[in-house]
Amino acid sequence: MKLLVTGGAGFIGGNFVHYTVKHRPEYEVTVIDALTYAGNKANLAPVMDKIKFVEGNICDAELMDKLVADTDIVVHFAAESHNDNSLQNPWPFVETNIVGTYTILEAVRKHDKRLHHISTDEVFGDLELDDPNRFNESTPYNPSSPYSATKAGSDHLVRAWVRSFGVQATISNCSNNYGPYQHIEKFIPRQITNVLSEIKPKLYGTGEQVRDWIHVDDHNEAVHLILDKGKMGETYIIGADNDHVNNKQVIEMLLELMGKPKDWYDHVNDRPGHDMRYAMDSSKLRTELGWKPRYTDNNGMHEGLQATIDWYSQNRPWWQQQKAEVETKYAKQGQ
Ligand code: NAD
Ligand code: DAU
Repeated sequence: MKLLVTGGAGFIGGNFVHYTVKHRPEYEVTVIDALTYAGNKANLAPVMDKIKFVEGNICDAELMDKLVADTDIVVHFAAESHNDNSLQNPWPFVETNIVGTYTILEAVRKHDKRLHHISTDEVFGDLELDDPNRFNESTPYNPSSPYSATKAGSDHLVRAWVRSFGVQATISNCSNNYGPYQHIEKFIPRQITNVLSEIKPKLYGTGEQVRDWIHVDDHNEAVHLILDKGKMGETYIIGADNDHVNNKQVIEMLLELMGKPKDWYDHVNDRPGHDMRYAMDSSKLRTELGWKPRYTDNNGMHEGLQATIDWYSQNRPWWQQQKAEVETKYAKQGQ
């Protein structure tokens, strides 16, 4: 079975490729990745002899046509993924997330191939802090940032291609991931690498915002289950029930695990339009496909965070060169 993984040199796609090579050797994996600032070929070094790597852009219709013709399934991770960047310069988000997804859809339509589209909880907008509800597969779309609006647009395109052209596709919407190989612009690795560099962690605004954290391996196991057993045309919510920890508490957990005082962090400028709370109801995935996350509740999160801290401590060359550049960019935004 041939699997084409877009964005496989990024954080989640890279972990997906590692997971697939280790646990699902029946798949022949090809990665297509443009190696933007967020893509790193070195992420795939341990498995490079077992996969095919193509450097290229998902907006390149000719290339995508050729690659899709030669595969059975496309798993589409490639995206511009960082909200803060989308507030500075939205165009790459429109181009990759919307035009890129359109390009893939046209290729899978032409060659009658299966697509799994990776999406986010952010398409639903946010919940109030005191709202006990969670997002589910029927929650209306209400995205807040240019990033989440382009991801919402890409989901709508996939659904339209399923309904209008009978394309064989599934979608998953997942909450905030953490784990190894995540770019240090993102919240958790930024704070871990701050502490490792003797820089105080940076908390946006009050830090009351809640994200429903999930370990990247739990996400990728869910994606494999959907590939195995998902029903065509369906959407699956992926979330590990960690929606009770706010950003301030995550920083405090990290500081405790890294042996620093609980209040050793700075408050910095808030993100404009900052979503307050995400919470995911993944009952459909659990009951229909039998998914169960491994890293759940506070203990699971401690275990997952400790493993992530260990990975960044042991892989300094992977992030150290970028650290100054990332922090300079944030400092210009007062963050
Ligand atoms: P990432 O930014 O770490 O990686 C994105 C990868 O896509 C990079 O390797 C980059 O080089 C590649 N890419 C970007 N533009 C491309 C283009 N035009 N052509 C080919 N490759 C291109 O992102 P991530 O955090 O791994 O996210 C992967 C997917 O998962 C995205 O679709 C994102 O929306 C979704 N998602 C992310 C999270 C999260 O918490 N990180 C949660 C839910 C869903
Ligand atoms: O919810 C899923 C989404 O999670 C994915 O679709 C996105 O691709 C992914 O980047 C992530 O988006 P967020 O904006 O939630 O993640 P980020 O890591 O940027 O920030 C997490 C929270 O932490 C958010 O409330 C902002 C806050 N934050 C972030 C940074 C970088 C800080 O307080 N300080 C920081 O330094």
